[in-house]
Amino acid sequence: MKGVILAGGTGSRLYPLTKVTNKHLLPIYDKPMIYYPIETLISAGIKDIMIVSGRGHAGHFLELLGSGADHGVHFTYEIQEKAGGIAQALSLSEDFVDGDRITVILGDNIFQDNIKKDVVNFNSGAKIFLKEVPDAHRFGVAELKGEKVIGIEEKPKEPKTNFAVTGIYIYDSDVFDAIKTLKPSGRGELEITDVNNYYINKGEMEYGVLKGFWSDAGTFESLLRASILVQQHASIINSQNEIDKSVNM
Ligand code: G1P
Repeated sequence: MKGVILAGGTGSRLYPLTKVTNKHLLPIYDKPMIYYPIETLISAGIKDIMIVSGRGHAGHFLELLGSGADHGVHFTYEIQEKAGGIAQALSLSEDFVDGDRITVILGDNIFQDNIKKDVVNFNSGAKIFLKEVPDAHRFGVAELKGEKVIGIEEKPKEPKTNFAVTGIYIYDSDVFDAIKTLKPSGRGELEITDVNNYYINKGEMEYGVLKGFWSDAGTFESLLRASILVQQHASIINSQNEIDKSVNM
């Protein structure tokens, strides 16, 4: 299983924070944003990771992350020349993935769940991860029928459910054929939602529902919320460690 982190885009919704740096290098509580998707992949057992970024400030990713040795993994870097959408950025990893399976994570998504079991048990097709949210219209929204996802709508005005499609996906290598069939959406981008609907139409899509917190961090509100969630989680773990220490003394 290979890992790909998609860290392109201009970060326009966070301007002027993104005027002289890349969105994925901004802090979430005590770490640069991109550390969180890296940790999510590593905790799923993935060690061979490609980072796709845009041209602006791309050198800063190299300076921050290097070869991956600090994290005990191996990083490969790729540049998305123009903002052509998440699926277009993913297509740049085809040679790197080289027929393997692939876990894709958006660089501005912060997850508490560990998806190691899903990664280990994945065979073929695709798997998405849903989370019930109060503001589903901001995301891809899944329509469910029993145990099946029957469709995904990208940022619908009137969502059919509250289940947002979060920014972590597992695919087999057919994903690159899927991307080749796509046409740009209304916003001129190749949409990851269209990739997922391709697998749904083939009857090859599974889904899981996340238990822990999840946040994107691409707007001022979500950037702040992600920091608060991470800080609260860290303080719970720290106080648990203090209790464990005093019990063991
Ligand atoms: C993207 C996807 C959307 C998904 C979201 C998760 O939206 O297009 O389907 O729900 O990421 O963060 P974006 O935030 O890039 O507009």
